[in-house]
Amino acid sequence: MKEIEEIKKEFEEKIKTKSIEELKKVETHFLGRKGKVVDLFKTLKNATEENRKNIGQQINDLKSYVEETISKRLKELEEIEKNKLLANERIDITLPGIRLETGGLHILSKVMKEVEDIFLSMGFDVMTGPEIESDYYNFEALNIPEFHPARDMQDTFYLAKKILLRTQTSPIQIRTMEKYKPPIRIIAIGRCYRRDAIDSSHSPIFHQVEGLVIDKNVSFSSLKGTLLEFTKKMFGEETKIRFSPSYFPFVEPGAETAISCVICKGKGCRVCKYTGWLEMGGSGMVHPNVLKNVNIDPEEYQGFAFGWGVERIAMIKYGIPDIRMFLQNDLRFLEQFK
Ligand code: PHE
Repeated sequence: MKEIEEIKKEFEEKIKTKSIEELKKVETHFLGRKGKVVDLFKTLKNATEENRKNIGQQINDLKSYVEETISKRLKELEEIEKNKLLANERIDITLPGIRLETGGLHILSKVMKEVEDIFLSMGFDVMTGPEIESDYYNFEALNIPEFHPARDMQDTFYLAKKILLRTQTSPIQIRTMEKYKPPIRIIAIGRCYRRDAIDSSHSPIFHQVEGLVIDKNVSFSSLKGTLLEFTKKMFGEETKIRFSPSYFPFVEPGAETAISCVICKGKGCRVCKYTGWLEMGGSGMVHPNVLKNVNIDPEEYQGFAFGWGVERIAMIKYGIPDIRMFLQNDLRFLEQFK
């Protein structure tokens, strides 16, 4: 009986352990095959007949007590352990999220895509051409002979004799007509270069969108209808266009094209310099000499062409006051168009 008391005392001490690992050891120590409680049963044979039952009962009680206490303690310790884990994994859902830095298309790329989409919807194909051009495609084939004064209008970057950075997208007109037979209905958007002094509306690197349509019975009204349709889709249904006589060697007649100011709706403001109109670029009926240069019979086919400034389109549509902003890569500017 004394021994039972002692073992119980020892057990009460050891059960206080705070670790599950320790508790397992305590379990073996008392209940294992060579454990303290199991050992007690062996002493039974030394007890007298009359005591045996009583002592046996007591040992059994001790055994159940130890078993129950251990399993209760195990549950407690497991609960504590679980709470510790949960505390570590706790997520504060009230914290603001982590913002991912994302890139975006440059505003000019976006505008070029918009322009492309509009013309695609009108049945145009999209062409490209090289930025490094020959004198032939950029000037000669476009009816601009070597000593023609129009060459001075387009101060050219020469890379070698007769090799240059294209000053306009019009050479793509020639490349297209050399490659495809009429009917032709294309646009070409691309980068152009001119030795211009930089200011808020001039940049030595800029973009143009060129249009070319060649077919039978193409007239100036086809040109007007096409540009008006594009203008309405790009700038709004109420926008008007205006043609005024102008000269480009590769068209006849040639016209400067303007749209009604989208800011003041034609009333006159700072952006349109109080004229009510915004200049967009040149246009006209393809010159017979140009058609002849690509072996298209001007008696059978006519065509129109136009070349508008892409930066101009973007500046007007998005209220961008200075052409230099497109190339400065200032994130404060770029991010506004993400
Ligand atoms: N290429 C001309 C320019 O850069 C614009 C233009 C294109 C004019 C097509 C007429 C026809 O100024």
